[in-house]
Amino acid sequence: MKIEDIFSVKDKVALVTGGSRGVGEMIASAYLANGAKVYITARKAEACNDKANELSERYNAECISIPNNASTLDGIEELYNEVSQKESKIDILVNNAGAAWGEPIEEFSELGWDKVMDLNVKSMFFVTQKFLPLLKKGSTKENPARVINIGSIDGINTPAFENYVYSASKAAVHHLTRHLSSRLVQDNILVNAIAPGPFPSNMLGSAVAHNYAPLVERNPMKRIGTAEDVGGLAIFLSSRAGNFTVGETIICDGGLTASSGHDLTSE
Ligand SMILES: NC(=O)c1ccc[n+]([C@@H]2O[C@H](COP(=O)([O-])OP(=O)(O)OC[C@H]3O[C@@H](n4cnc5c(N)ncnc54)[C@H](OP(=O)(O)O)[C@@H]3O)[C@@H](O)[C@H]2O)c1
Repeated sequence: MKIEDIFSVKDKVALVTGGSRGVGEMIASAYLANGAKVYITARKAEACNDKANELSERYNAECISIPNNASTLDGIEELYNEVSQKESKIDILVNNAGAAWGEPIEEFSELGWDKVMDLNVKSMFFVTQKFLPLLKKGSTKENPARVINIGSIDGINTPAFENYVYSASKAAVHHLTRHLSSRLVQDNILVNAIAPGPFPSNMLGSAVAHNYAPLVERNPMKRIGTAEDVGGLAIFLSSRAGNFTVGETIICDGGLTASSGHDLTSE
């Protein structure tokens, strides 16, 4: 029952898509700080390589960059080939790479719709499908592999922004998580999702002109998320402590969703 045993991710091998910045970097950092080896992906090769070097140095750990476009089946095939040349098994797959698109409903474009659905939903499914052999290998009931899908509270609540495809895609992520979990638990692969609230990142930053103050004000905890918040949850879901948690979407938003019935303007 010691924390160092039940929450350990030491010596595990993780793949974090979109690990070059934002939420993916936070989760990769949590694994690296605790003795895991982590592969990160992103389309921008230089940024991905630089981040892997930076994190390897900061945590005295092995972070490996695989620049890659995860939104096409060819890209997913290349990613699998690269990882499988280096590893015979992976313990943790974090399907984090994601995109958003906002436009007024009258102008909302097919381009934006397809871009977001392709990356947030379709590629999540096909990355998971492709990596099944590496996830299954050596997985047991006592030490199952893990898949963590990054959803969003926008897939649960009605967003304030006109990001229709984003909210629909994240609701799909949450249900896909449950459906996949029911099948893959039979192969000793546990699938869960994290639904983050506001975390500092390029994606959220560009939606709020990099001014997080109104989000801090609206949040019951009077702050936005940090690496410890989402990293800690990822560690729980990846360790012995999370062995009996299957098919869940765990909200990590400082109580925003729980308080969404409150009229904050009257307080
Ligand atoms: N930040 C929040 O408040 C928040 C809240 C709820 C949910 N989320 C979710 O958290 C995840 C990460 O988002 P973020 O906020 O950290 O955004 P971000 O800062 O924009 O990071 C996105 C990451 O994904 C990579 N990426 C984008 N398209 C890709 C593609 N086609 N193939 C491979 N990698 C790709 C990006 O690198 P490149 O651009 O170089 O490809 C980057 O590493 C997303 O699923 C998002 O929906 C975030």
